[in-house]
Amino acid sequence: MTASEPPAPTAPASSGPSQPPGPRRVAGSVLQRMDKGTIRRVVAVGSGKGGVGKSAATALLAAELRRRGLAVGVLDADVTGPSQPKLFGLSGPLVDRGEGIEPARSAGGVPVVSSQFLVEDEQTPVIWRGPLVTRLILQFFGGVNWGPLDYLLIDMPPGTSDVPLTVFQSVPLDGMVFVFTPPELSAMIVRKAMNMARDLHVPLLGIVENMAWVACPHCATQIRLFGETHATAVAREYDVPVIAELPVDPALARAADEGRIESYTSDAVARYADAFLASIEAQEQRRLTVL
Ligand SMILES: Nc1ncnc2c1ncn2[C@@H]1O[C@H](COP(=O)(O)OP(=O)(O)OP(=O)(O)O)[C@@H](O)[C@H]1O
Ligand SMILES: [Mg+2]
Repeated sequence: MTASEPPAPTAPASSGPSQPPGPRRVAGSVLQRMDKGTIRRVVAVGSGKGGVGKSAATALLAAELRRRGLAVGVLDADVTGPSQPKLFGLSGPLVDRGEGIEPARSAGGVPVVSSQFLVEDEQTPVIWRGPLVTRLILQFFGGVNWGPLDYLLIDMPPGTSDVPLTVFQSVPLDGMVFVFTPPELSAMIVRKAMNMARDLHVPLLGIVENMAWVACPHCATQIRLFGETHATAVAREYDVPVIAELPVDPALARAADEGRIESYTSDAVARYADAFLASIEAQEQRRLTVL
């Protein structure tokens, strides 16, 4: 499957709830914003920086929103380093019976698509050039039977190249959440991603400081392993809220490794979901005021 091309994006969806959203046809351009179809809000989760917990932050938010009764899907846009199947304990292949791709479904009822489902095992890489990757992302958005969703969360790959550009320019994003870790280097690189999103008119919903602290096993005091936080400074600079400060938690690492990230809950995750929902509501209010 690695050498084969992903299929072209499907035709626009009609209004029925079971139809996938399709691309809006605009002559002369592949990169065009697609219709949202039956998806209410589309939110990217990214960083620019690798290994900071983007995928974990995506899956934790999806699982928490799902626990609250919302319909949430996850689009794993990290084609070369897909993580969502592992986190949710899912495997492929994806099935298309001629009516669009059926996503895999987690135990908690989160539909997930990922390039991981297109290869035979966890070790097989997807080796595609940029244009094919672009088509795959468009297909994952527009050609999947997502069904009615309150939120589609897009787990972004690291970097600010092909895939982020495709997502920013083609997918009708309602906003983006930025994940970083305490070291200054991570704060520096998240600014690149935030600048890119801002330049491309994607609303900045907030920042997640991951691995912000660790709880002392004896007295539960919060220890900031990497020193003082840069979250407040970044938040102030971009006028966005800090929507989460997630601790380093061995229980989370274990749940992720064992494919049961949905079973992980904590006060920090609950506050993360609260702040995320508040931020997106505020964003919508601002948009309505502007209209
Ligand atoms: N707060 C945390 N506590 C413990 N482990 C964590 C935490 N956040 C992430 N991890 C673990 O750290 C590893 C890296 O996280 P993750 O894959 O989410 O990062 P990423 O930013 O998506 O990486 P990539 O750039 O490769 O996509 C994973 O094994 C994940 O389970
Ligand atoms: Mg990732």
